[in-house]
Amino acid sequence: MTCQVTVLPSGHTFGVEAHETILEAALRQNIGLPYGCRDGACGACKGKVVAGEVSQDGFQDKALPESERIQGMALFCCAKPQGDISIEVREVTGAGDIQIKTLPCRVEKIEKIHDVAVLKLKLPVSERLQFRAGQYIDILMKDGKKRSFSIANAPHDDAFIELHIRHNPGGSFSDYVFNQMKEREIMRFKGPLGSFFLREDSDKPAIFIASGTGFAPVKGIIEHAIHQGIQRQMVIYWGARTLADLYMAPLAGSWQAAHPHITFIPVLSEALPEDNWQGRVGFVHQAVLEDFADLSGYQVYACGAPVMVEAAHASFTGERGLPEDEFFSDAFLPSKDANAAK
Ligand code: FES
Repeated sequence: MTCQVTVLPSGHTFGVEAHETILEAALRQNIGLPYGCRDGACGACKGKVVAGEVSQDGFQDKALPESERIQGMALFCCAKPQGDISIEVREVTGAGDIQIKTLPCRVEKIEKIHDVAVLKLKLPVSERLQFRAGQYIDILMKDGKKRSFSIANAPHDDAFIELHIRHNPGGSFSDYVFNQMKEREIMRFKGPLGSFFLREDSDKPAIFIASGTGFAPVKGIIEHAIHQGIQRQMVIYWGARTLADLYMAPLAGSWQAAHPHITFIPVLSEALPEDNWQGRVGFVHQAVLEDFADLSGYQVYACGAPVMVEAAHASFTGERGLPEDEFFSDAFLPSKDANAAK
């Protein structure tokens, strides 16, 4: 049986299946309830049941004391509705509503693909990171410095935090990742940060333009959009020097193969003879200019080297009529990453 939940004050409604908690059902349907541990320990998902009944178990008393239960408070990560209900809770509508945390994490896996290390980070058992697909985290170094990396996975797939780190010889952090970092190592990070995420209140077709590891947040956004069943037209341009630099091209190709509304266009600027490249060549923003005479009805999401992001912004808004407020970007600026390790 499906129970209906009405969220106040927004009036949003969603259905909860018998096997689901209220939080699980809300996240599945893209309703932004707040959460932290998803395990009844932190209290971040707490709200009030104003009409109807819930059953809840598996939570810790300190997260929901008896005195609060009596007042109708519930932890939605542990609560199941017993019929249709109304709840009162602060909804997460933008990145600004998500709590920024400083957390320890363990390096669970290091996979090297060409000159990119794909790190999988695991949080402590009682923690989950709530984030919007496309945001980034700051890795906090022992020397007090920080390095910013985009989250490459989508929020629904949050067993690990995935980062893509390009080897930049001479860059202290990326040298460290490539030469010394060991699995099971403990690090600390702060996040989620940034406003590079899909504007889901729009149904305009979206163009994604990435250079190098700027692919990482695009991957998170596309995986999120696929999971949510978002059917907007999405065109992904990924620019790199050589074929090997397109370190996850088969994955992007598989999105195109499985979803008619997604197109993947790889663009190489310095293809090697052995690449035997038959595809698009040149600078990645130029490929967009060649393909689109008018961008006035589009959104553009650009991520990667500042020079690419700046060129895309200038030419798309200046020459192709892209509205200024429909251009979203995350440039790998030195202020976010002193050694350009991102
Ligand atoms: S998310 Fe931590 S108690 Fe529900």
